[in-house]
Amino acid sequence: MPAVVIVGAQWGDEGKGKIVDIYTEDCSMVVRYGGGPNAGHTLVVGQDKLIVRLVPSGILRPHTTCVLAQGMVIDPDRLVTELDELDKRGLVRESPLVVSDRAHAILPFHILVDGLREKGAGALGTTKRGVGPTYEDKAARRGVMLGALRDLKRCERLVAVALEAWTPTIRALGGTPPAVAEIMAGLEKVAPRIVPLLGDTSRIVGEAMSANKRVLFEGAQGTLLDVDHGTYPYVTSSSATAGGACIGAGVGPSKIRAVVGLTKAYCTRVGGGPFPTELHDETGERLRKAGDEFGSVTGRPRRTGWLDLPALRYAVRVNGLDGLALTKLDVLTGQGDLQVCVAYELGGKITREFPIADLEAAKPVYETVPGWKEELGKARKLEELPAAARSYIQLIEREAGCPAWLVSVGFRRDETIVLRNPFEG
Ligand code: GDP
Ligand code: IMO
Ligand code: MG
Repeated sequence: MPAVVIVGAQWGDEGKGKIVDIYTEDCSMVVRYGGGPNAGHTLVVGQDKLIVRLVPSGILRPHTTCVLAQGMVIDPDRLVTELDELDKRGLVRESPLVVSDRAHAILPFHILVDGLREKGAGALGTTKRGVGPTYEDKAARRGVMLGALRDLKRCERLVAVALEAWTPTIRALGGTPPAVAEIMAGLEKVAPRIVPLLGDTSRIVGEAMSANKRVLFEGAQGTLLDVDHGTYPYVTSSSATAGGACIGAGVGPSKIRAVVGLTKAYCTRVGGGPFPTELHDETGERLRKAGDEFGSVTGRPRRTGWLDLPALRYAVRVNGLDGLALTKLDVLTGQGDLQVCVAYELGGKITREFPIADLEAAKPVYETVPGWKEELGKARKLEELPAAARSYIQLIEREAGCPAWLVSVGFRRDETIVLRNPFEG
């Protein structure tokens, strides 16, 4: 059962694209199981950067089957655009790309509502891709699954029901609801491209696992954006933690061999919500510059801050992490002494727990550790890192209670120290 789940241990953008691309080198299948085009996973191809939003980050590997599972919400237009962009790059693919016929469609009114809400006082800083409203429809049991595109007459009836339910909200937010005919005209255009890709992905993934093939589940977003375990309400609307892989892909938890959590060597967050170790000073600005911390979906500057070890311990627990992939260690080069949050002060008491329900009142307790000046990009073994960088990794492993299985020292594929392959051992 060589199935591995990769999840973000922070607020997303931990470098999942790069690490999934590395791990899929010898994988049969890679599965996106949740979220939608709110994700932006960066891949590096030679001198070029490619950002995938819906298709899995294994897309560069010709022999890896790419699956978009039913836990996802998929904007049909964006999927077609993304596939066209990939085609233009001339990527040769020998294995199929399969899209679940039970994934929910993001429709124009979902995007409209997301955008209108973001103009109001209750804005959360979403990516405005319609992700939240689509999951609302799914939970309300009036969503439109992609399989409906096989029968456009039936699809039209489903679209009309969902649109009717949203119409008072759209009007109350000052918007104009689109016409069903207009929505259907758009769907009729893309349906011939999408329908041939549709399949029963739970069965396809299950068969690959039964045949002992290596299957990688690619998380989107991150633990602290999970609808149940994140910093609610400043979260996305899906299960971004490891358990989401089972629900979103339709596989049983007993079939997962290992869970790898990705963490940057510091923290970032894009959008609103609590971020206790956030830096509002020059150091924060330096981290943003050195780490090129600008959103890969919306281009927004990412908020930056010191590493939060209680939050990482929390991620180890709620995901059951077996190993860590530590990314962007190179970004800390030349940043001087480093601060690391090791605990929180809450109501006059010190706690090592991440106070998820009380983050506004909690104050981070920092430990200062020595930084380093050396460039790290050429290191391929831990021994090739400066002593201070090695101590930093050891501190993270000790405090998180989880070993590092990979250390990333640059955005390229080869700028990586692989300590343990999650599919082996
Ligand atoms: P994802 O959403 O988790 O896939 O992450 P993003 O792709 O949104 O953002 C991560 C960014 O960091 C991308 O621009 C990557 O190319 C880059 N990146 C990944 N790993 C490293 C690393 O170890 N060092 C540096 N400097 N950049 C990295
Ligand atoms: P990847 O997969 C970082 C954030 C948004 C916002 C909140 C809700 O690239 O790590 P949504 O549009 O999902 O309703 O927005 O979640 N968010 C992400 N932040 N990386 C992501 O994905 C994100 N996907 C959503 O910024 O705060
Ligand atoms: Mg991203």
